[in-house]
Amino acid sequence: MKFALSIIPIAAALLVSAAPFKRDVNPALVPEFGHPSGLNPTGTGDCDGITNAAGQVVKIPCACPPERNEFLQSLNANVNAGFAVNNPSIKVSFPTDGSKDSQLARMQAVLVTLQNTKGPGVGCPAASTTFLAQQKAIQDGNAPPAPAPAPAPEPAPAPAPAPVPAAGGIDPALIPEIGHPSGLNPTGTGDCDGITNAAGQVVKIPCSCPPDRETFIKALNANVAAGKAVNNPSVAVSFPTDGSNASKASRINASLITLQNLNGPGVGCPAASSTLLAQLKDVQG
Ligand SMILES: *[C@@H]1O[C@H](CO)[C@@H](O)[C@H](O)[C@H]1NC(C)=O
Ligand SMILES: *[C@@H]1O[C@H](CO)[C@@H](O)[C@H](O)[C@H]1NC(C)=O
Repeated sequence: MKFALSIIPIAAALLVSAAPFKRDVNPALVPEFGHPSGLNPTGTGDCDGITNAAGQVVKIPCACPPERNEFLQSLNANVNAGFAVNNPSIKVSFPTDGSKDSQLARMQAVLVTLQNTKGPGVGCPAASTTFLAQQKAIQDGNAPPAPAPAPAPEPAPAPAPAPVPAAGGIDPALIPEIGHPSGLNPTGTGDCDGITNAAGQVVKIPCSCPPDRETFIKALNANVAAGKAVNNPSVAVSFPTDGSNASKASRINASLITLQNLNGPGVGCPAASSTLLAQLKDVQG
């Protein structure tokens, strides 16, 4: 009896220590984004991302990169799961030592987290951060000292979502084609190929961009019916139906605004996930 009683606390202690427990990553080991959100907004949802190897500023959704605390929460969820919770086929690990392999694993973890914060391939493009440059520096063996935190302006708080008016009746034949497929050449971490820019460089976009046409038309109808981007009400939207170049430009503009504010103010797909800017240029002569 005495023996049996004394065994209980030991068993209890074993149970406790065997229970899985979760812990947060050390924020000091999490690479800085190195790029602010909200830089030089076009007024329609695109902002400036990093400058690519060809010296071109890549356009990104204005809400990218995300707020750091929100990002750390997503990273912790992925690290604790061992995979991207929004894209479970992608493994995530976050080793804490200073070896090159571990630094690269941490870089991969933050890239995967960034690109899948909202769903599989739905997040922020790598070009909203300096992560790829940081990765290259580690690979080349000349990782710079920890970058200074970027002075990231907070994205504007999301307004209460406006009630979506009943699906409107714009003539689908007047709606510009998006002109670019989604899911092209996935890197495996959430970035896919967008259009080729003026400098001949393929712009990276979230793999979920552009949206399917039905989703796009529904959102466009809602914006046209409201006369503004329902997710970004300060941006006016008009959709004149005549054949003039000015009216064509307005319709392309309405499509661009819809694309770039699909999920919130400045939260959507970048213009580079479509040929809309080239189409606009065409009708503007
Ligand atoms: C596009 O729409 C924005 C917002 O309503 C407006 O400021 C801009 O002038 C429009 N551009 C064209 C080409 O229609
Ligand atoms: C529209 O623009 C195109 C290209 O700039 C031009 O060739 C065409 O004549 C214009 N059409 C009208 C109706 O202005």
